[in-house]
Amino acid sequence: MTKNSFIKFQCGTLAQLVAFGKDSCSGLPNGVEILELKSEDATVEKHVPYIEERENGYLVKVGKETKHPMLDAHYIEFIEIEVDGEYLYRRYLKPRMEPEAFFEVPKGEKVVAREYCNIHGVWTDKK
Ligand SMILES: [Fe+2]
Repeated sequence: MTKNSFIKFQCGTLAQLVAFGKDSCSGLPNGVEILELKSEDATVEKHVPYIEERENGYLVKVGKETKHPMLDAHYIEFIEIEVDGEYLYRRYLKPRMEPEAFFEVPKGEKVVAREYCNIHGVWTDKK
């Protein structure tokens, strides 16, 4: 488990780990799993977030050449970006919006993007 890991409950609820206690955790409750972040996409629908640096921030697109669908039953619920492990920004999306988000944030050395597809889980651009 690391900071900003995602955990998923059996009911489908998604949560993110934001802080840890002093002692090591004794484990997750039954029915809760740490989600493996995916970064290799061989499907037609593209999931890997793609970061474009802009003058005053970063534009994150889900799918570089092929956009991910944004249908009622299948869409990107949110896109987030983490800058230098110090800042975390998230943009929630709805069906029919573009599968992208612009973050007007300070530039950083290590920029990581993640996104959550309601069908296919959490994806990142970094391994
Ligand atoms: Fe998907």
